[in-house]
Amino acid sequence: MKILLLGKNGQVGWELQRSLAPLGEVLALDRHSTHYCGDLSKPEELAQTVLAYKPDFIVNAAAHTAVDKAESEPELAKLLNTDAPAALAKAAAQVGAWLVHYSTDYVFDGSGTHARQEGEGTGPLSVYGQTKLDGEKAIAASGCKYLIFRTSWVYAARGGNFAKTMLRLAQERDKLTVINDQHGAPTGADLIADVTAHAMRRVLNTQNTALGGVYHLVASGETTWHGYASHVIRQAKCIKPDLPIKVAEVAAVPTSAFPTPATRPLNSRLCTAKLQQAFGLVLPPWQQGVDRMLTEIL
Ligand SMILES: NC(=O)c1ccc[n+]([C@@H]2O[C@H](COP(=O)([O-])OP(=O)(O)OC[C@H]3O[C@@H](n4cnc5c(N)ncnc54)[C@H](OP(=O)(O)O)[C@@H]3O)[C@@H](O)[C@H]2O)c1
Repeated sequence: MKILLLGKNGQVGWELQRSLAPLGEVLALDRHSTHYCGDLSKPEELAQTVLAYKPDFIVNAAAHTAVDKAESEPELAKLLNTDAPAALAKAAAQVGAWLVHYSTDYVFDGSGTHARQEGEGTGPLSVYGQTKLDGEKAIAASGCKYLIFRTSWVYAARGGNFAKTMLRLAQERDKLTVINDQHGAPTGADLIADVTAHAMRRVLNTQNTALGGVYHLVASGETTWHGYASHVIRQAKCIKPDLPIKVAEVAAVPTSAFPTPATRPLNSRLCTAKLQQAFGLVLPPWQQGVDRMLTEIL
C-alpha cells in the first residue's frame, strides 16, 4: 500500500510518520520537498504529485493553522485550507485514492452547551473556521472516497504548546489568568495519528466505502483552558516535585479579557459516538494523554 503524507513536520504530521509506517510505503512531504511537491500553496503541483505517485491514501496534515493570522491573510488561508484540499480531492478521485483530511471545531459557532454531532449546522466565526469548512465541502463535493476528522485543542510533546507555556509562566509568575468560558477537549496529536491509522486499516480491510465521511475525533471528557492549565500545574508538581513552581493563583477570566483578531467558539464540545461506533475504537480521557505528554517533557 502507498500513502502520501502531507505536512509531515506539523504536530499531527510528525505523529503520523510513526503511526502510518506499519501500514505500507509512506511518501512524507513538507512544503520544502523537492522531487515531489508538498506545498499547499501550489494546488496544481500538488495534484501532479498525486497523479504521479498514485497513492492508495493521501493523508493531509498540512494546513494554515495560525488562527489569528488568517484574519489578515484570508486569501492565503483559503488557498491552503480550501483550494489545496479541493485539488487533492479531485486528484484522489482521478486515481481512486482515499483522502484523509483534518478539520476543526471552529467550523461551529460555539453556541449552547451540548457536544455537537457531525451533521449539525455549522457557523464559523473566523476566517480559519470558514476556510476549513469550505475545504470540507470541496472534498465532499469531489466524489473521492474520504475521511475527515474534526479535532480540537491539539497538543504534542514536540514543539511549543499551551501546557509548556503554562509550565514556563508558572515558574516565572505568582499569578496566572486563564480563560474559563471556552469548553473543549485537549487532544494529543499521537491519539489523532493512531486513530487515523486504525481507521485507514479498517476501510482498507473491509473495502467499505460507506465508512467514508466526517467524524469528530477528540479525547473524552471536557475542560476549559483554565481547567487545563490548573491540571497541568497540579500534575507537574506530582511528576516532578522539585520543579520550581512559583505560581500561587490561577485566576479564571472570560474570553473578553484576552481580545484576539479571530473569534473563538465558546462551546467546542464534539460528540465522538459516530467514530467510536464505526471503527470500534475507544477515545481515552483527555487527562491521560496530557499526563503522558507531561511525563515526557518534564
Ligand atoms: N492545532 C490545533 O489545535 C487544531 C485544532 C483543530 C484542528 N486542527 C487541524 O488539524 C490538522 C493538523 O494540525 P496541527 O496541529 O498538526 O498543525 P501544525 O502543527 O500547525 O502543522 C501544520 C503544518 O502545515 C504546514 N504548512 C503550512 N503551510 C504549508 C504549505 N504552504 N505547504 C505545506 N505545508 C504547509 C506547516 O509547515 P511549516 O512547519 O513549514 O509551517 C505545518 O507542518 C490541521 O488540519 C488543523 O487545521 C488543529
